[in-house]
Amino acid sequence: MDKRGKLRVALVGLRFGGAFVPIYLHHPDVEYVGLVDPDRAALEDLGGKFGVERRHSDLREVIRSRDYDAVHLVTPIPLHAEQSVAVLKSGKHCACTVPMATGLADLRAIIAAQRKSGRNYMMMETAVYTRQFLYVRELAAAGRLGRIQLLRGAHYQDMENWPPYWTGLPPMHYATHAVAPGLAIADTHATAVHCFGSGVMRPELHGQYGNPYPAETAIFELASGNLAMEVTRSLFQTARGYTESFCIYGEKLAVEWPQVEEEDALVVFSMGAAAEAGRRGRPVTTERVSAPDRQDLLPPAIARFTVRGKYDDSNPQKTFEAGGGHHGSHPHLVHEFVRSIVEERKPWIDERRAAWWTAAGICAHQSAMKRGARVLVPAFD
Ligand SMILES: NC(=O)c1ccc[n+]([C@@H]2O[C@H](COP(=O)([O-])OP(=O)(O)OC[C@H]3O[C@@H](n4cnc5c(N)ncnc54)[C@H](O)[C@@H]3O)[C@@H](O)[C@H]2O)c1
Repeated sequence: MDKRGKLRVALVGLRFGGAFVPIYLHHPDVEYVGLVDPDRAALEDLGGKFGVERRHSDLREVIRSRDYDAVHLVTPIPLHAEQSVAVLKSGKHCACTVPMATGLADLRAIIAAQRKSGRNYMMMETAVYTRQFLYVRELAAAGRLGRIQLLRGAHYQDMENWPPYWTGLPPMHYATHAVAPGLAIADTHATAVHCFGSGVMRPELHGQYGNPYPAETAIFELASGNLAMEVTRSLFQTARGYTESFCIYGEKLAVEWPQVEEEDALVVFSMGAAAEAGRRGRPVTTERVSAPDRQDLLPPAIARFTVRGKYDDSNPQKTFEAGGGHHGSHPHLVHEFVRSIVEERKPWIDERRAAWWTAAGICAHQSAMKRGARVLVPAFD
């Protein structure tokens, strides 16, 4: 940190990662931002667009450098574990996009590196900073859901023609968007899982990961006793439009993500008063609720990035659109990572919570490969 307690941040991997450049640049606790990508065209393009002079084509330059306090990794999945460990070992704080890793040993290696370094690790899970999640979390905190009875998550996305590391990826190795919201609302973690692989995938997609399944569906046992969570994921050859969704069923209120992603409004069911004599079942009313945008939780300088808008109105020739990704979650993620460092506390999605959310999917795939056998999910105490 510089003398004024401001952070010097390196952002690594500029494709999806590019969405975070203006947010860090405008965060009041950030001194400066450096960009890292071996793709020089991406580096020059984003560096030029946002006027960022510090540009590196190799992460090792940043790791060796004393000019950075924190590194945010938005790189391909197979690099997350190795790069997170290297960043932490270099004495820098580390944020990493999902998933934390794709193997249990790698989760443990990141936790060990975090503990040894004493620096912050945060997994940048967009699904728990969407405006919909923030709304449901407030309903839960105010007791409006009543006792939570069932959790459900689903993430459908077609990964045909995505970069090669996606080819045949076990669906549950990228499950955190569907796993995390339910676990976070119920404030619990998975202890065991039964999962089934489903469907038939083209043989050429099996090779890289030895995974034969285009879709996987799991039921998790949770630490909080009588609660279970269903999670379904598909990645290939399944005709379902993209969604990253969660549903929470309480005794008083239930909230479902809309069936069609573009519809936006949550479906909220309210349980009526005690059943009238002679009437079977209680009345349940249904309303559609657009979750409010929570710019009030953010510093004014970055609040506008919860929605898509013009970047740098001061120069109409160079104006372009930025912000609004993943239902407004990006600035909330950056703010939590940055403030956790400034306030010398753990981020909410610290290494342990990140490992719980990620291990749930890793263990689910193990179960699928054993035809649904019960697999214990480690506790990461
Ligand atoms: N909602 C979310 O949280 C969300 C959404 C999209 C992607 N992601 C995650 O973000 C990551 C990146 O996604 P993407 O679609 O941009 O991937 P991508 O593979 O299209 O792009 C990765 C970028 O990283 C760069 N890169 C590759 N190797 C690198 C290295 N060794 N050091 C530095 N940079 C390197 C590439 O040049 C490229 O610019 C993935 O891990 C994905 O899982 C998360």
